[in-house]
Amino acid sequence: MNADAQKRAAAARAIEFVRPGMRLGLGTGSTAKHFVELLGERVRAGLDVIAVPTSEATHADAIRCGITLTTLDETPELDLTVDGADEIGPDLSLIKGGGGALLREKIVAAASARMIVIADAGKWVDALGRFPLPVEVTPFGFAATRNAIDRAIGALQKSGPLTQRQRKDGHAFVTDGGHWIIDAALGRIDDPKAMAHALSGIPGVMEHGLFVDLAQTVIIGGPDGVRIVERS
Ligand code: A5P
Repeated sequence: MNADAQKRAAAARAIEFVRPGMRLGLGTGSTAKHFVELLGERVRAGLDVIAVPTSEATHADAIRCGITLTTLDETPELDLTVDGADEIGPDLSLIKGGGGALLREKIVAAASARMIVIADAGKWVDALGRFPLPVEVTPFGFAATRNAIDRAIGALQKSGPLTQRQRKDGHAFVTDGGHWIIDAALGRIDDPKAMAHALSGIPGVMEHGLFVDLAQTVIIGGPDGVRIVERS
C-alpha cells in the first residue's frame, strides 16, 4: 500500500465513527480530503450530518461532495473532528499546519468533543520536530515577531532556521485568515507542551502548529492494515 492508499484506508476507518445527526469538523489536507470524499458518499446515500470546514479548500471540497455545511457561529459545539497531521508523537501530540490551515484547524478541534487524526504510517514519529513547526503570524511587525519567536525557542532549546513560507511564485504564503507563516526547523522538540506555551505568549503569533492534548484517537494506515491508537 502506498502512502495515499494508507491515507484512504485510515479515512475509511474514521467514517465508522460517524453517527447520524453528528456535528462534524472537517480537516484540511490530502488525508482529510479522502475523509470528505467518503463522507460525501455516505451523505448522498442518506446520512444526515452537518459540518464545519477548517479551510476554504475543504469548504469547496465539502460543497462539491454534497455535505451540508455550518459555521462555528451557528454551531459552536461539535461532536467529532477528523483531520490529518504532519507528525504524530507517541503521546498523540501533533505537528499540524503543513497546509497552512492550523489556526482554523485548532479552533475547530478545540470546539469538538472528540478529535480523530487520520494519517499514513510515515507520520508516526518517536519525537516531534523533524517536520518544521508552522507558526502563523500577523504581517504587522513581522520582523519583531520573528525575533521574539527565535528568543522564545532559544530559551527552551537549540533554535533552528526560521523561514517565512512562500508560494511557488515567490510571494508570501497567505493563510485563509490573511496571516503569514514562519516554519521553524527545529529537528527535535524536546518539550512540546513548554514550546506550545512559550509560542502562545508572543504578541503577533496567531497560532502555532503544536496540537497538545487535542487528539484522543489516531488512525494510522500502514502497509499491514489500519492501527488505532487511543490517548491514555
Ligand atoms: C493542514 O494545515 C495540515 O494541518 C494538514 O492536516 C497536514 O498538513 C496533513 O496534511 P496531509 O494529510 O496532506 O499530509
